[in-house]
Amino acid sequence: MGSTDFRVRLFRQEDLDRVMEINVTCLPENYSSFFYMDIYHRFPQTFLVAVVDEVIQGYVMCRVERAMSKLKKLSLAKLSHVVSIAVMKSHRQRGIATALMHQAMENSVKYYGATECFLEVRVSNIPAIKLYDKLHFIQTKRIYGYYMNGEDAFEMVRPLNEGEPMKQDE
Ligand code: COA
Repeated sequence: MGSTDFRVRLFRQEDLDRVMEINVTCLPENYSSFFYMDIYHRFPQTFLVAVVDEVIQGYVMCRVERAMSKLKKLSLAKLSHVVSIAVMKSHRQRGIATALMHQAMENSVKYYGATECFLEVRVSNIPAIKLYDKLHFIQTKRIYGYYMNGEDAFEMVRPLNEGEPMKQDE
Protein backbone atom coordinates (compact mmCIF):
# COMPACT_ATOMS: atom_id res chain seq x y z
CA MET A 1 0.00 0.00 0.00
CA GLY A 2 1.11 3.54 -0.66
CA SER A 3 1.21 6.30 1.90
CA THR A 4 -2.05 7.41 3.48
CA ASP A 5 -1.57 10.96 2.14
CA PHE A 6 -3.56 11.92 -0.92
CA ARG A 7 -4.44 15.10 -2.73
CA VAL A 8 -7.40 15.97 -4.88
CA ARG A 9 -6.86 17.92 -8.10
CA LEU A 10 -8.64 18.65 -11.36
CA PHE A 11 -8.60 15.94 -14.04
CA ARG A 12 -6.21 16.58 -16.93
CA GLN A 13 -6.33 15.13 -20.42
CA GLU A 14 -3.29 12.91 -19.76
CA ASP A 15 -5.17 11.25 -16.84
CA LEU A 16 -7.72 9.68 -19.15
CA ASP A 17 -6.18 6.17 -19.48
CA ARG A 18 -5.75 5.80 -15.72
CA VAL A 19 -9.25 7.03 -14.96
CA MET A 20 -10.70 4.59 -17.51
CA GLU A 21 -8.61 1.81 -15.97
CA ILE A 22 -9.97 2.60 -12.48
CA ASN A 23 -13.49 2.72 -13.89
CA VAL A 24 -13.34 -0.69 -15.59
CA THR A 25 -11.64 -2.22 -12.55
CA CYS A 26 -14.20 -0.90 -10.06
CA LEU A 27 -17.53 -0.57 -11.85
CA PRO A 28 -19.68 -2.38 -14.44
CA GLU A 29 -20.81 0.95 -15.93
CA ASN A 30 -18.08 1.81 -18.45
CA TYR A 31 -17.83 4.64 -20.95
CA SER A 32 -16.04 5.63 -24.14
CA SER A 33 -13.11 8.05 -24.08
CA PHE A 34 -15.38 10.50 -25.92
CA PHE A 35 -17.84 10.40 -23.04
CA TYR A 36 -15.15 11.26 -20.46
CA MET A 37 -13.66 14.03 -22.58
CA ASP A 38 -17.08 15.51 -23.29
CA ILE A 39 -17.77 15.77 -19.55
CA TYR A 40 -14.27 17.18 -19.01
CA HIS A 41 -14.75 19.89 -21.65
CA ARG A 42 -18.18 20.89 -20.35
CA PHE A 43 -17.58 20.57 -16.60
CA PRO A 44 -13.83 20.66 -15.92
CA GLN A 45 -14.24 21.88 -12.33
CA THR A 46 -16.21 18.83 -11.24
CA PHE A 47 -14.02 16.17 -12.85
CA LEU A 48 -11.51 15.42 -10.11
CA VAL A 49 -8.86 12.83 -9.34
CA ALA A 50 -7.23 11.72 -6.08
CA VAL A 51 -3.49 11.17 -6.25
CA VAL A 52 -1.39 9.03 -3.89
CA ASP A 53 2.37 8.91 -4.39
CA GLU A 54 1.95 10.46 -7.86
CA VAL A 55 -0.52 7.75 -8.95
CA ILE A 56 -4.23 8.39 -9.46
CA GLN A 57 -6.25 6.09 -7.19
CA GLY A 58 -9.73 7.57 -7.49
CA TYR A 59 -11.90 9.93 -9.50
CA VAL A 60 -15.29 11.61 -9.55
CA MET A 61 -17.08 13.26 -12.45
CA CYS A 62 -20.26 15.32 -12.41
CA ARG A 63 -22.49 16.96 -14.96
CA VAL A 64 -24.47 20.09 -14.01
CA GLU A 65 -27.86 20.64 -15.59
CA ARG A 66 -30.89 22.86 -15.16
CA ALA A 67 -33.89 20.66 -14.43
CA MET A 68 -36.79 20.18 -12.04
CA SER A 69 -35.74 20.18 -8.42
CA LYS A 70 -35.66 16.79 -6.76
CA LEU A 71 -36.29 18.35 -3.36
CA LYS A 72 -38.78 21.17 -3.94
CA LYS A 73 -42.05 20.62 -5.77
CA LEU A 74 -42.57 22.45 -9.08
CA SER A 75 -39.39 24.47 -9.00
CA LEU A 76 -36.43 24.61 -11.33
CA ALA A 77 -32.97 23.92 -9.95
CA LYS A 78 -29.40 23.47 -11.07
CA LEU A 79 -28.57 19.86 -10.41
CA SER A 80 -25.08 18.44 -10.11
CA HIS A 81 -25.32 14.80 -11.20
CA VAL A 82 -22.55 12.51 -9.95
CA VAL A 83 -22.06 10.43 -13.09
CA SER A 84 -19.31 8.20 -11.73
CA ILE A 85 -17.05 7.84 -8.69
CA ALA A 86 -14.59 5.10 -7.84
CA VAL A 87 -11.55 4.47 -5.68
CA MET A 88 -9.12 1.58 -6.21
CA LYS A 89 -9.71 -1.24 -3.73
CA SER A 90 -6.19 -0.92 -2.29
CA HIS A 91 -6.91 2.69 -1.33
CA ARG A 92 -10.45 2.52 0.03
CA GLN A 93 -11.71 3.48 3.48
CA ARG A 94 -9.22 6.22 4.05
CA GLY A 95 -11.43 9.16 3.14
CA ILE A 96 -10.63 9.52 -0.56
CA ALA A 97 -14.22 9.30 -1.86
CA THR A 98 -15.38 11.64 0.89
CA ALA A 99 -12.76 14.22 -0.14
CA LEU A 100 -13.62 13.83 -3.84
CA MET A 101 -17.32 14.31 -3.13
CA HIS A 102 -16.77 17.35 -0.89
CA GLN A 103 -14.61 19.04 -3.52
CA ALA A 104 -16.99 18.14 -6.36
CA MET A 105 -19.97 19.54 -4.45
CA GLU A 106 -18.08 22.70 -3.51
CA ASN A 107 -17.00 23.26 -7.12
CA SER A 108 -20.53 22.51 -8.39
CA VAL A 109 -21.77 25.47 -6.36
CA LYS A 110 -18.81 27.79 -6.91
CA TYR A 111 -18.35 27.36 -10.67
CA TYR A 112 -21.73 26.18 -11.95
CA GLY A 113 -24.24 27.55 -9.44
CA ALA A 114 -25.62 24.11 -8.55
CA THR A 115 -28.24 24.02 -5.82
CA GLU A 116 -28.66 20.26 -5.47
CA CYS A 117 -26.47 17.20 -5.94
CA PHE A 118 -27.89 13.82 -6.90
CA LEU A 119 -26.84 10.37 -8.04
CA GLU A 120 -28.03 6.83 -8.61
CA VAL A 121 -26.65 3.91 -6.65
CA ARG A 122 -27.29 0.16 -6.82
CA VAL A 123 -29.57 -0.92 -3.98
CA SER A 124 -26.97 -3.61 -3.14
CA ASN A 125 -24.01 -1.19 -2.98
CA ILE A 126 -23.83 -0.80 0.79
CA PRO A 127 -20.40 0.93 0.96
CA ALA A 128 -21.55 3.61 -1.48
CA ILE A 129 -24.95 4.08 0.19
CA LYS A 130 -23.19 4.50 3.54
CA LEU A 131 -20.82 7.03 1.99
CA TYR A 132 -23.73 9.10 0.64
CA ASP A 133 -25.67 8.77 3.93
CA LYS A 134 -22.66 10.17 5.71
CA LEU A 135 -22.54 13.04 3.23
CA HIS A 136 -26.19 13.87 4.12
CA PHE A 137 -27.80 12.57 0.92
CA ILE A 138 -31.34 11.29 1.29
CA GLN A 139 -33.07 8.58 -0.75
CA THR A 140 -35.75 10.19 -2.90
CA LYS A 141 -36.88 7.23 -4.98
CA ARG A 142 -36.22 3.67 -6.07
CA ILE A 143 -35.73 3.33 -9.81
CA TYR A 144 -36.81 -0.15 -10.85
CA GLY A 145 -34.55 -2.00 -13.31
CA TYR A 146 -32.23 0.99 -13.70
CA TYR A 147 -29.10 -1.06 -14.38
CA MET A 148 -28.28 -3.29 -17.37
CA ASN A 149 -28.57 -6.45 -15.25
CA GLY A 150 -32.02 -5.39 -14.06
CA GLU A 151 -30.95 -4.24 -10.61
CA ASP A 152 -32.80 -1.31 -9.03
CA ALA A 153 -31.18 2.00 -8.10
CA PHE A 154 -31.83 4.41 -5.28
CA GLU A 155 -31.82 8.03 -6.35
CA MET A 156 -30.08 10.02 -3.61
CA VAL A 157 -30.10 13.81 -3.30
CA ARG A 158 -28.83 16.59 -1.07
CA PRO A 159 -29.15 20.38 -1.20
CA LEU A 160 -26.08 22.49 -1.92
CA ASN A 161 -26.09 25.88 -0.28
CA GLU A 162 -23.90 28.69 -1.54
CA GLY A 163 -21.73 30.33 1.10
CA GLU A 164 -22.41 27.56 3.58
CA PRO A 165 -19.51 25.23 4.28
CA MET A 166 -20.16 21.65 3.13
CA LYS A 167 -21.22 19.55 6.07
CA GLN A 168 -18.26 17.49 7.18
CA ASP A 169 -18.41 13.95 8.46
CA GLU A 170 -19.72 13.58 11.97
N1 COA B 1 -18.41 -0.77 4.15
C1 COA B 1 -19.23 0.08 4.84
N2 COA B 1 -19.18 1.43 4.74
C2 COA B 1 -18.26 1.94 3.91
C3 COA B 1 -17.37 1.13 3.16
C4 COA B 1 -17.47 -0.28 3.31
N3 COA B 1 -16.67 -1.13 2.65
N4 COA B 1 -16.58 1.94 2.41
C5 COA B 1 -16.95 3.21 2.68
N5 COA B 1 -17.97 3.21 3.57
C6 COA B 1 -18.69 4.38 4.09
C7 COA B 1 -18.35 4.60 5.55
O1 COA B 1 -19.45 5.23 6.16
C8 COA B 1 -17.18 5.56 5.45
O2 COA B 1 -16.99 6.32 6.59
P1 COA B 1 -16.06 5.72 7.79
O3 COA B 1 -14.76 5.35 7.17
O4 COA B 1 -15.97 6.85 8.75
O5 COA B 1 -16.79 4.54 8.31
C9 COA B 1 -17.62 6.45 4.32
O6 COA B 1 -18.27 5.57 3.41
C10 COA B 1 -16.49 7.21 3.63
O7 COA B 1 -15.55 6.29 3.13
P2 COA B 1 -14.36 6.74 2.16
O8 COA B 1 -13.09 6.20 2.72
O9 COA B 1 -14.42 8.21 1.90
O10 COA B 1 -14.77 5.95 0.81
P3 COA B 1 -13.79 5.18 -0.19
O11 COA B 1 -12.65 6.08 -0.56
O12 COA B 1 -13.46 3.87 0.38
O13 COA B 1 -14.71 5.01 -1.47
C11 COA B 1 -16.47 4.00 -2.76
C12 COA B 1 -16.08 4.56 -1.38
C13 COA B 1 -17.97 3.59 -2.70
C14 COA B 1 -16.29 5.08 -3.82
C15 COA B 1 -15.58 2.77 -3.07
O14 COA B 1 -15.95 1.71 -2.20
C16 COA B 1 -15.62 2.30 -4.50
O15 COA B 1 -14.90 2.80 -5.34
N6 COA B 1 -16.49 1.30 -4.80
C17 COA B 1 -16.61 0.77 -6.16
C18 COA B 1 -17.21 1.80 -7.11
C19 COA B 1 -18.56 2.27 -6.62
O16 COA B 1 -19.35 1.52 -6.07
N7 COA B 1 -18.84 3.57 -6.85
C20 COA B 1 -20.09 4.18 -6.45
C21 COA B 1 -21.11 3.96 -7.49
S1 COA B 1 -22.65 4.78 -7.07
